[in-house]
Order: sequence, then C-alpha cells, then structure tokens
Amino acid sequence: MSLHVIDAERLPVVAAHMVRNMRENDDEPQGPFAPYDPHDPYDAAEALEKWQKKLTLPVTDPNFGRMWGVFDDDGICRGHCDVRAQGLATMGHRVELGIGLERGVRGQGWGRKLMDLCLDFCRAEDRIRWVDLGVFAHNTGARHLYEQLGFETVGVVKERFIIGGRPVDDVTMTLFVGA
Ligand SMILES: CC(C)(COP(=O)(O)OP(=O)(O)OC[C@H]1O[C@@H](n2cnc3c(N)ncnc32)[C@H](O)[C@@H]1OP(=O)(O)O)[C@@H](O)C(=O)NCCC(=O)NCCS
Repeated sequence: MSLHVIDAERLPVVAAHMVRNMRENDDEPQGPFAPYDPHDPYDAAEALEKWQKKLTLPVTDPNFGRMWGVFDDDGICRGHCDVRAQGLATMGHRVELGIGLERGVRGQGWGRKLMDLCLDFCRAEDRIRWVDLGVFAHNTGARHLYEQLGFETVGVVKERFIIGGRPVDDVTMTLFVGA
C-alpha cells in the first residue's frame, strides 16, 4: 500500500474507489457515513467533473480542492482524503475536509496517515487557517480519529439528514491550522 497526491491522471482511479465506497455506505453496520441514499444517490460522473476542475485551481481560488489517496499494490485506490474551499472568497481561509476508506483497509492506520498528509498541506498554506468537517453523530470511529488529531466539536445539527428513512444528527468539528 502507498500514499499519493491525486492529480488529473489518477483521478479516474479515485472515482472508481468513490463508487465502491458509496456502495458500502448503503449497508454500514453502524449506519451510513455519507448523506446519500437511493432517493439522492451519489453522482460519480458529476463528482469526477467537479474534481477535475478543483485540482487545477490555485489555493487562492474559492473553488480549489486537493486530494490524497491510498493505493494497493495493484494500483487500485482504496481510500481518499480531500480538502476543498467553500466557494466564497470571504471563506478563503477555511477548507472542508472529507475522508473515506473502503472496508478492507480500515483500522490499519491509513486513515490517520491520509489525514496527516492533508493537514500537513493545510498547515503549510498560509492562506488556510481553519479545517472544518461534518461527521454523523453515530460515526464514533471517525469522531475518535478527528478528536485524536485535535478537532473540536463546535455544534450539532439535529436531524440534519434523513437517510433511508432514518434521521441523522450531524456534528460540526473544526481545527485551527493557522500560525
Ligand atoms: C473513519 C476512517 C477514516 C478511519 O480511518 P482508519 O484507517 O479506519 O483509522 P486508523 O486505523 O487510522 O485509526 C485511527 C484512530 O481511529 C480509531 N478508529 C478508527 N476506526 C474506528 C472505529 N470504527 N471505532 C473506534 N475507533 C476507531 C483507531 O482506533 C485509531 O485510534 P487509536 O490510535 O487511539 O487506536 C475510516 O474507518 C473510514 O473511512 N470509515 C468509513 C467512512 C467514514 O466514516 N468516513 C468519515 C465520514 S465523516
């Protein structure tokens, strides 16, 4: 297994991982980790198109994004972590973080390694001062990892989503990475 920065060339391999990962979302034993269900499914083609653009934009652009992936020995992407700007110039000092690993590679330290890479990038960029994320309240594994990295809970939106008929509370967490 190895870690890589995702560029336009690697992006289609990552898109295939996203599709597998989102399929897992539908039958996670502890409940979903992403806000999709059959009524509003993950659109891989749309995501690929968006990310093709995001990766080319400079960090000063309100729509930039960066991504890192973990690849197995056959070159198949098994997990990713990303940050993206939030679309407004006035929020250029904040990024939103996302992460997802396929079941077969969880619990082996790769999530932590991907987060470290991503946060190193954020700390090295003077412009970025805060890293925000949303995590479902029931996703105790992910919350544990974020807390371990210093993220603080700043709020909970009760019943932010209804996924597969089930109400889901969403926890907002944030990490200061500025000087
Ligand atoms: C959450 C996730 C990113 C963690 O990555 P990972 O590679 O499985 O975790 P790591 O092996 O790097 O472990 C990092 C820490 O988190 C803890 N952890 C990870 N998964 C856990 C779980 N399910 N329950 C409890 N703790 C967990 C580990 O014990 C470790 O803490 P420790 O050092 O105190 O032992 C990964 O499991 C995943 O992608 N899950 C499905 C998608 C998801 O939930 N994405 C986040 C949406 S907000």
